[in-house]
Amino acid sequence: MENPSEHALLALLQCSTDCIYLKDTNSCFLIVSDELARRVGKTPSELMGKTDKDIFPSEHAEQALRDEQEIMNTGIPKKNIVEQERPGVWVSSSKWPWYDTQGNLLGLCGISRDITQEVLKEKENEELRASLAEAEKLKSMGQLCAKVAHDFRNDLTPIIGNLEWVLEDLNNHNYDASVIEGLKAAESSAFRAFELTKLLTNFAKTAQYKLKSANIDDIVCTMGSALTSQLKDGHYRLEYTLNAKRTVLLDENQFASAITNLVINARDAMATGGTIRIATNEIMLEETVNGTPDRIPAGQYVVFSVEDTGTGIKPEVMKNLFVPMVCSTKGEKGCGWGISSIRGIVKGHNGYLDISTEVGKGTTFSIYLPANPLNSETAPKVL
Ligand SMILES: Nc1ncnc2c1ncn2[C@@H]1O[C@H](COP(=O)(O)OP(=O)(O)OP(=O)(O)O)[C@@H](O)[C@H]1O
Ligand SMILES: [Mg+2]
Repeated sequence: MENPSEHALLALLQCSTDCIYLKDTNSCFLIVSDELARRVGKTPSELMGKTDKDIFPSEHAEQALRDEQEIMNTGIPKKNIVEQERPGVWVSSSKWPWYDTQGNLLGLCGISRDITQEVLKEKENEELRASLAEAEKLKSMGQLCAKVAHDFRNDLTPIIGNLEWVLEDLNNHNYDASVIEGLKAAESSAFRAFELTKLLTNFAKTAQYKLKSANIDDIVCTMGSALTSQLKDGHYRLEYTLNAKRTVLLDENQFASAITNLVINARDAMATGGTIRIATNEIMLEETVNGTPDRIPAGQYVVFSVEDTGTGIKPEVMKNLFVPMVCSTKGEKGCGWGISSIRGIVKGHNGYLDISTEVGKGTTFSIYLPANPLNSETAPKVL
């Protein structure tokens, strides 16, 4: 090439890290930068005379051709259009009409830049903003719950105390049995309401977590019969596969309440019975895993999971699963506190939650707890 400006153009086309091109009025490539050819796995000469339809997925190519015809017809450039060029690749591109010195249309010129990393970062930031907003919302609900639980407890304490006193006193006299039964029923309702305040307090996370080094398998083993008693009748079976040797930092009572809640949910999801599988495992994550709802950072974990073959969780329930008092049973079975408080408990253990569910097939709740450094090798548990 003799002409110095052609040299300059060639250098630009060879060295640019952007995709630069000139096209004729039929949107066929006339000149392309090396980067464009490299990005689509061809040489520049292989692209001559081709259109976007020959190199990109049809959805992107058809839109690009429509845009280009519009630019050439109207003479109005399109700048900084962000589009998905192919799965997982986003580009920002600008295109202008191209004229000769007499103002005759020759085609168009364009430049596009791969902005995949920026788009992914922005998506991450969006997720982060959404989870911060959710955390703020849960924090305010937590404060409200703490206040309600506190005031409720203050009122319930004299109710329970007085009912106990009256019942004790009535026992010494010959009162109608139905009066005593009525008072006993009132007393047990008051006890249940008192238990509910504990749930509220758990959710509010004002409950102090007493984290001690413990082995999850030991806790599951000690809970065995308490869990079986939640299964009403013989239609349900609990199956255990316990393989957690490493210890974790645990508040045994809080964790036991999370396990019980998960088993009850699994039972409720299988109206005609079935098997609930409880498993523990150790796992080393080499990189962050996008769980639902939590992103689980790389690290060594002990994973506790409860799996059922029930109804699965419908997308509309899943969307609000962590909002307290959202349940699909309209209060017939529960009141929608379970999963919010499980999430609170998992967070209180610096752990992460991952839910996989398929409508009609079943659900697995997995809790990832950071594993203590290898310190306690124990034999596998048998239940
Ligand atoms: N294993 C599961 N399979 C199918 N759906 C589930 C499962 N676990 C939870 N769900 C759905 O999520 C909803 C919320 O569960 P959550 O435990 O928070 O409340 P609940 O069980 O309805 O009431 P509570 O736990 O307060 O007694 C449930 O009503 C149910 O629709
Ligand atoms: Mg529940």
